[in-house]
Amino acid sequence: MTAPIIFAAPLQGYTDAAWRAAHRDIFGEAVAQYFTPFVRVEGGVPRPRDLRDAPAGEPRTTPQIIFGSPGEMRMLVHALSGAGHTRIDLNCGCPHPPQLHKGRGAAVLLRPDLLREAAEIINDYPAITFSLKMRTGVTCGTEWRPAMREIERMRLSHVTVHARYAVQQYRGLVDVAAFEAIASALPHPVFFNGDVTAPQELPAGAAGVMIGRALLGRPSLAAEWCGGEEWPAARRIEALLQLHARVYEARAARLCGPAQLLAAMQPFWHFCEDGIGHRNAKAIRKTRTIEAYRKAVAEITKNLEL
Ligand SMILES: Cc1cc2nc3c(=O)[nH]c(=O)nc-3n(C[C@H](O)[C@H](O)[C@H](O)COP(=O)(O)O)c2cc1C
Repeated sequence: MTAPIIFAAPLQGYTDAAWRAAHRDIFGEAVAQYFTPFVRVEGGVPRPRDLRDAPAGEPRTTPQIIFGSPGEMRMLVHALSGAGHTRIDLNCGCPHPPQLHKGRGAAVLLRPDLLREAAEIINDYPAITFSLKMRTGVTCGTEWRPAMREIERMRLSHVTVHARYAVQQYRGLVDVAAFEAIASALPHPVFFNGDVTAPQELPAGAAGVMIGRALLGRPSLAAEWCGGEEWPAARRIEALLQLHARVYEARAARLCGPAQLLAAMQPFWHFCEDGIGHRNAKAIRKTRTIEAYRKAVAEITKNLEL
């Protein structure tokens, strides 16, 4: 089986520029496109921290924006295109209440007027290639239907569907039937997203796949699919540790002090439990100082007896 086109999902707090650079360096070309965590408007301006983490010129990387009004969308597109970006992904899937309450993320699916204006803004920027990431709805999995009339007319390179509705957050049934219905309703290539861990899980009609948590837990996954075989555990863990060492160094240089660094690094391992085992994951979770954290990470290989 040839590997599908693989996108790396955006995950706030995880897939920052340091993670993406390390992933690219270690795993090569396996991921066709990385997406940045969303860039937002805060205090009436594009958040500087978000813009810094989405620098133009980063290979195979598309910045994602979240917006709740045409004004916010224009401001973000203007900032990113001014910075030299040529691709932008539109977030129509974020389920977090603070964003939904601002009419952003998945809430946009229920706002045909905003979608219509978004299509016009897209047309105002012919040099930018746009894409869109969506859910199947907000409170149920049929709310995507009215949005189709607007999305089908948008100039988009592709649409990614996380096949859950927003209230489900990141758990519960992944609705393959809804994905297939969306894929056949749209003229664009449609990528599947949600709980994928193996290429054979891709539903009919998928142009490719976007992988999030599985790639955090097993960063070699895309390279393994492309190479056509599983890596032995020792190689997988070595690559995982190499990636984390790079992210650690980058965050240590940026963050203020050990407590912040610990808080930024510890959650990664939650996604790695399958690979590093329960004992290692628990040991890392229990650490309360950066020194103890480093020691627990250094002991992963020994505990696994690889
Ligand atoms: C902690 C976390 C942060 C996320 N941040 C974003 C984001 O900034 N933009 C976005 O479109 N999706 C975001 N997502 C959703 C993921 O991109 C993806 O759609 C979701 O995790 C389902 O895919 P998976 O099962 O392969 O992880 C986030 C998910 C998680 C768990």
